[in-house]
Amino acid sequence: MKSMRLDKYLSLAGIASRTETSKAVRGGEVLVDGVPARKADMQVDPDTVQVTFKGQPVTYRQFTYILMHKPDGVVSATEDGREQTVLDLLPEELRRIRPALFPCGRLDKHTTGLMLLTNNGDLSHRLLSPARHVDKTYAFAVKFSLSQEDVTALEAGVDIGGYVTAPCKVELDEKDPEQRGSSGRITLHEGKYHQIKLMMEARHNRITKLQRITFGPLVLDPSLAAGEWRMLSEGEVRALEESRR
Ligand code: URA
Repeated sequence: MKSMRLDKYLSLAGIASRTETSKAVRGGEVLVDGVPARKADMQVDPDTVQVTFKGQPVTYRQFTYILMHKPDGVVSATEDGREQTVLDLLPEELRRIRPALFPCGRLDKHTTGLMLLTNNGDLSHRLLSPARHVDKTYAFAVKFSLSQEDVTALEAGVDIGGYVTAPCKVELDEKDPEQRGSSGRITLHEGKYHQIKLMMEARHNRITKLQRITFGPLVLDPSLAAGEWRMLSEGEVRALEESRR
């Protein structure tokens, strides 16, 4: 791999932003091959360098993994002539990395919540392959109240236009008598286009809110506001790798 700036290296490794790196370098807290780095923009060779950040050895990742809180109104594509995409929410530096980042699976334009972006095509392919599809939980609200009969039908599988959905899990929130409609969580073990929207339509209902809160072992980070993102931790990457076996 080509040499790169130390601050870029630490940012791509998911350890620190450029500003954090500058601060840590000034405090003598970044060691490069055992010697305190003098400048955040010094060149390092990712294949051979040994960096320690605040006492922790840094392992450079071959791939990049980003957990984003997708906001409403943004499309889950890499490029779109008209609409803002999830990639547009990332800084230039991350939009330029090669292989390029892409969203792992899709959320509708008005669905918010957990979106994984990566450039690990193999992992993404496996996470989304029908044979090993990871579970995904969505918080939802619908316009009309769901009956027990609706819940039983949704859980057993409904026809969404030539396809009967696989069994899933639906949990309803306690309803206050004033409330119109219903809200709750639905966990799918598959991922068809517009699946939840179409499932609710099959029960003559309409989605008014949809937010993905889990994706396999990943959980939507409550500290991330809509539009914010962070790198996955080592533990999260490991859990994803393991979830696909
Ligand atoms: N099901 C939907 O209908 N929309 C989504 O964005 C995700 C699942």
